[in-house]
Parts: sequence; C-alpha cells; structure tokens
Amino acid sequence: MAREASIVLTSATLQTAFAEAYRSLRANLGVDGGMQGARALLVASGGPGEGKSTTVANLGILMAQAGQRVVLVDADFRRPCLHRLLAASGNGHRVTGVDGFWQRDGADPVRRGLSDLIAGTASYVEVATPVDGTENLVMVPTGTIPPNPAELLASPRMRSVIADFCDHADVVLLDSPPCSLYSDAQELTRVTDGILYVLRSGPPGPVNHVRSLKKLQQGQARLIGIVMNQVDVRAAGYSRPYRGGAPARG
Ligand SMILES: Nc1ncnc2c1ncn2[C@@H]1O[C@H](COP(=O)(O)OP(=O)(O)OP(=O)(O)O)[C@@H](O)[C@H]1O
Ligand SMILES: [Mg+2]
Repeated sequence: MAREASIVLTSATLQTAFAEAYRSLRANLGVDGGMQGARALLVASGGPGEGKSTTVANLGILMAQAGQRVVLVDADFRRPCLHRLLAASGNGHRVTGVDGFWQRDGADPVRRGLSDLIAGTASYVEVATPVDGTENLVMVPTGTIPPNPAELLASPRMRSVIADFCDHADVVLLDSPPCSLYSDAQELTRVTDGILYVLRSGPPGPVNHVRSLKKLQQGQARLIGIVMNQVDVRAAGYSRPYRGGAPARG
C-alpha cells in the first residue's frame, strides 16, 4: 500500500494511485478466489500503528463500491477509531445516526455496538450504522468498552454475533488491536474465516512477525494475505501519478 497524506478514501481521492493500490488488494481478495470463501475477515497486525484501521476503512469503501454488502466491525476495544476515521474523511463518507453524535464536547460518546451485541443487550439493527455516501457500507462501533476485552471476545456468544454479521453482508471486516500486545485478535481468529495481516514497511521494529503470524494461525481463520503498508512508492521509482484510465477490475 502506497504512503499517502489523505488517508481515508473520499470521492476526491478515488482516482489516485493510493486508491488504486487498495483496488488491487480488493481484486486479490475478490473474484479470483483469493478470499477462498472467507466472509468474516480479521484485519490484524503484530505491532501498533501498522495500518489496520486504515486498511479496514479503505478496503471496506472499495468493496462496497464494487457492489458487495460490507459490514465494518470495530473490534479494537483498546484504541477504537473506525468511527472517527469514517467521520473525519468527510466528503460523503460520514457515519450518520444521531444528530451531533460524533462531536459532542469533542469526546467520543458511548454508543451501543459490538460489546452490547456480545452481551445480548442490543440487536444488529440497533447498532449497525450506515456510512453516508457509500451504499452497502455499514459500520458497527465497539460499544461500551469492557474492562476485559479479550474475555468478552472469547465469549461463546461471539460465534453467533459473527454469524449474524454474515447474514447481513457479503464481507465482514473486523478491526483489531496489535496481537503482540493483546490476545484479542487471537480470540477473534476462533470465530472468523480469514486473516489479513498488515505490515508497515520500513526498518524492522521490535515485533517478531513470524511469532505473531503463528499465534494468529492457531484458530480456525486461515491467513488470506499480507498487506505491505506505507510503502514509499517514490523511493521505489513509481513517482508518476496515474489518473483516470481504465478502472481496475475487482
Ligand atoms: N498507506 C498509508 N499511507 C500513509 N499513512 C498511513 C497509511 N496507512 C496508515 N497510515 C497512517 O499510519 C497511522 C496508523 O494507521 P492506523 O491507525 O490505520 O494503524 P493501526 O494498525 O490501526 O494502529 P493501532 O494499532 O493503533 O490500531 C495513522 O496515522 C494513519 O493515518
Ligand atoms: Mg487501529
């Protein structure tokens, strides 16, 4: 994935090389069988800040634009941000719902979401929030942050919550916290079908990715792909911007 200043795709950036990189990812995962039938895809990484949430948002937007019904699930109780990413992108990709909901006193208000579904205190229709400007795209926020996210995600109810998402979507993308720091993503691999592992390019950091990948592959979810994120395409010699032209197949 190329490095880019404007992070979440909007109508203004859909024809850029940055968007094209996510289209390639969509194509690799899509009709050519890359997802191998996976419907619930966990987006995970070893370390923090590798680009999981950005990948969930942009891949979700482009999958929905290709006509798939997409549910984005914020399963990162440690640093939830999908709602802010989608709201901040503006230009058509605002999460709607309650008036003034996102900006109240500058703080993120508590909104029912995944934790309430797992606890059985809310239903899918109550927590699924349409993303403005993109048909077929819905997001489910974290809901109340529990004191014990890993235990909550390990709950037996989680399986039926995921099944419920799959009933409403062709593709479910789940955001998660770094698996080298928390076991949350590992718990999620027990109930999802596939793993998309995001890796930020650059000099090696302290995270042992082989160990992280091994940990993640102990559940039922198969490793579907690895996303190399924040590649400096200029340094790689691809500095000429490509605009317009034939749209990528996906
Ligand atoms: N392709 C990209 N080009 C440029 N910046 C990017 C790209 N992808 C992500 N970023 C930036 O990198 C930072 C981390 O991205 P993001 O929040 O998506 O990572 P994360 O893996 O979800 O982090 P965390 O582990 O904290 O949840 C953000 O500032 C984001 O804007
Ligand atoms: Mg994140």
